Amino acid sequence: MKKILFAASEAVPFIKTGGLADVVGSLPKYFNKMKYDVRVILPRYLCMEEEFQKKLEFVTQFSVELGWRKQNAGIYQAKADGIQYYFVENDFYFAGYHPYGEIYQDVEKFAFFSKAALDTLEKIDFWPDIIHCHDWQTGMVPVFLEKLYKQREPYQKIRTMFSIHNIRFQGRWMLHEVQDVTGLPSEVFTPQGIETYGESNYLKGGIVYSDVVTTVSKSYAMEIMTPEGGEGLDGVLRHYSFKLFGIVNGLDYQFYNPKTDPYVRYPFQASNLAVQKPKNKQYLQELLHLPKQDDVFMIGMVSRMSDQKGMDLVAAILDEFLGTEKVQMVVLGTGEERYENMFRYFASKYPDKLSATIGYSEEMAHRIYAGVDAFLMPSLFEPCGLCQLISLRYGTVPMVRETGGLKDTVEPYNKFTQEGTGFSFANYHAQEMAQIMRAAMQLYYTRPEDWKGLMQRGMAMDFSWDSSVEEYEKLYESLCEA
Ligand code: ADP
Ligand code: GLC
Repeated sequence: MKKILFAASEAVPFIKTGGLADVVGSLPKYFNKMKYDVRVILPRYLCMEEEFQKKLEFVTQFSVELGWRKQNAGIYQAKADGIQYYFVENDFYFAGYHPYGEIYQDVEKFAFFSKAALDTLEKIDFWPDIIHCHDWQTGMVPVFLEKLYKQREPYQKIRTMFSIHNIRFQGRWMLHEVQDVTGLPSEVFTPQGIETYGESNYLKGGIVYSDVVTTVSKSYAMEIMTPEGGEGLDGVLRHYSFKLFGIVNGLDYQFYNPKTDPYVRYPFQASNLAVQKPKNKQYLQELLHLPKQDDVFMIGMVSRMSDQKGMDLVAAILDEFLGTEKVQMVVLGTGEERYENMFRYFASKYPDKLSATIGYSEEMAHRIYAGVDAFLMPSLFEPCGLCQLISLRYGTVPMVRETGGLKDTVEPYNKFTQEGTGFSFANYHAQEMAQIMRAAMQLYYTRPEDWKGLMQRGMAMDFSWDSSVEEYEKLYESLCEA
């Protein structure tokens, strides 16, 4: 039995700010249980909901050395869906209303978490064959392991995998500060180590010091090796391309299942889609005080409100689009204030056409996926994207920009062959986006049978973890043999 430890900054059901939590909270369940014992370590944030705080059981506590600092770490455990979770507690670092804060605080916080995670292994006597780290917050795990732990016997054998979920976020901060916080030797803070552009860079740490690097779609793996998509790290990634692999994310098909989803008012599957889906749409209209019309084309968006998600394109066309088209739009999201306010403004200008919920709600998200006809995701870049996968599963037609994982998972509709699962556009251009939105709308209004076929093809796609988990297993095997 191989032992694997996932180290990450978020995982459902405990704490979630985005798709990373969906992945870390579901992938471990899908490994072959006869061959892999996969466990997860997370920070114990004070902002984690009470319902989960109550379930945590104390395991041990010890002191973690962080440069000249000594910080206390309490270790707790809990099980979710049969997976063993560990939590690192320290109220100095993990207090606050949100898992992430200012970067200068976060670099110390996640250096602490990474080191505490490594110390935990000895304290609980769990020796993983592989530590699988996710995103910059755990990028320093392979660095600490290599530089401070590998002298000791059980640590020596541990291999590391580093998964990039978003290269935009790198954990960059002043070299001398990070050297002071981590207590790592000076050779780490060089261009061969974690230095980029005069700063230290945790994500680069993960890339350079881990045995294998993955990212969450094949297209994104290519894109991050180019100056346009590499966010300054394309050169580093080209250098390490021999150990870089793209594996598309799966979706937790047990959790995201329109037939059993507790948040879906009228559960459905492909066979009763035509009857049930309109009921969910009406329910959504009722809930959001939109005019009750079954025949109106309804577009949904559930998104972090950032430029990554193509909000500038939406801002550019919304007035004209809502002003001229027979359409309803339902938006749920939080993020940058300028986008939140943009949606607030247009919702007040077009109250019968746009409903904007500024906030975070799992329940509302599921109701939107279940109720709307089409889902808009015009991302500037998208490592993988889970919203389009959830949409497909819920019979909702994705309208996406052809980038990263969106390009790999949404097949453009072909009216001649009646193939494809969604609509897509190539250039980051508002009118190109509006064009495919209108094409989708026209199909919906004029060819309902073709539209139904499109929904059903989407629902028939398989984006469960089944095939991607095999790719991870293969990489684990190759790491253990090496
Ligand atoms: P990212 O991780 O870049 O935000 P993904 O598409 O990978 O994008 O994943 C986003 C996840 O977060 C999806 O599960 C989506 O439903 C969820 N989500 C995003 N915003 C909200 C929100 N405001 N309320 C509820 N769920 C949200
Ligand atoms: C990041 C990416 C998103 C991806 C998610 C999970 O948040 O922005 O595209 O789906 O991680 O891998």
